Amino acid sequence: MKLKQVQLGNQGLIIPNIGLGCMGMTGFGDAHMYGPADEQEAIATIHRSLELGGNFLDTADLYGPFKNEQLIAKAIEGNRDQFIIATKFGWEINDNNELTWKINGSKNYVKKSIERSLKNLKTDYIDLYYMHRLDKNVPVEETVGAMSDLVKEGKIGYIGLSEVSSETVRKAHAVHSISAVQSEYSLFERTVEEKGVIKTLNELGIGFVAYSPLGRGFLSGNIKTIDDLPENDFRRGIPRFQEQHFHKNIELVEAIEKMAKEKGITSSQLALAWIISKGIIPIPGTKRRKYLEQNIEAANIELSDSEIQQLESIVPLGTDTGATYDEFGMGLLDY
Ligand SMILES: NC(=O)c1ccc[n+]([C@@H]2O[C@H](COP(=O)([O-])OP(=O)(O)OC[C@H]3O[C@@H](n4cnc5c(N)ncnc54)[C@H](OP(=O)(O)O)[C@@H]3O)[C@@H](O)[C@H]2O)c1
Repeated sequence: MKLKQVQLGNQGLIIPNIGLGCMGMTGFGDAHMYGPADEQEAIATIHRSLELGGNFLDTADLYGPFKNEQLIAKAIEGNRDQFIIATKFGWEINDNNELTWKINGSKNYVKKSIERSLKNLKTDYIDLYYMHRLDKNVPVEETVGAMSDLVKEGKIGYIGLSEVSSETVRKAHAVHSISAVQSEYSLFERTVEEKGVIKTLNELGIGFVAYSPLGRGFLSGNIKTIDDLPENDFRRGIPRFQEQHFHKNIELVEAIEKMAKEKGITSSQLALAWIISKGIIPIPGTKRRKYLEQNIEAANIELSDSEIQQLESIVPLGTDTGATYDEFGMGLLDY
């Protein structure tokens, strides 16, 4: 099986049509995002991904903080050039490696962040560098101006933004060509489509990367009750997984599972194939080879127009599946 290669944006970045989200491979401080991680299996998952052509890895300095980039450094050791590494900065991390819970998009912070990420990833360049969140107190032109300097210095290849509005994308793109925008997108979360961001990206020739393409695991069908989530799981704090939305969402998942079964695939594969059918790059997150292999298979599943229509009639655009973050997290989005 060979993964299709696609352009991400118009600046020359070529990637496979599915990536690997690495966030869940390490914890956050003492907590876990999506249940406990096993370093050996996580590294084996990255190696297996490369074997299958899945060389586009997604991480961020925030994850850990830094532990995720350090894990990737271990996994890619001796093979760095075979991978396309995307990382992100912007959640402010102080010199004690603590998250301050602020967003920092200042020029000085960009310069500080890149040096830390290069060190943690044990590399001298990053393929795709994202501004993780817009700093609403700093003009995006300043942040992207500083990122543009990094391109000139050869420290990064391409520039990306995460969770930004069309207006911010246009301002940023006027300073330096943006190659990718990464935002949450799945059958359960289509805000960027509703707000016209995807349309703007198509107009400007910027690629779109869908994070949490499985709705943080909800669309896999493996989560049937809130108790399926470990005690300190990040998802317990998200409205989508809370009482008022959970039961309604389970019904949607069951309808998606039924359709997937009829097609002889899993609901995760159906959810990913749907994203890929739109020319969008999903970066499903997993820390185990078993899921990785299923997800990569999904990149070669074609959906007919009537299958796409059937799926979209189960979860029509505008379906309210609950907010994607708590109030604080929602306040950091640029919509
Ligand atoms: N830019 C941003 O602000 C932002 C925010 C969130 C995430 N991200 C990036 O996007 C990546 C993906 O998003 P995500 O990890 O939040 O959510 P996701 O990909 O929607 O879901 C991840 C969850 O689904 C499970 N899973 C994956 N493949 C599966 C399969 N085939 N069958 C059953 N379960 C499966 C994983 O299980 P296991 O973990 O047990 O393998 C994990 O619990 C992250 O890794 C991160 O790199 C970016």
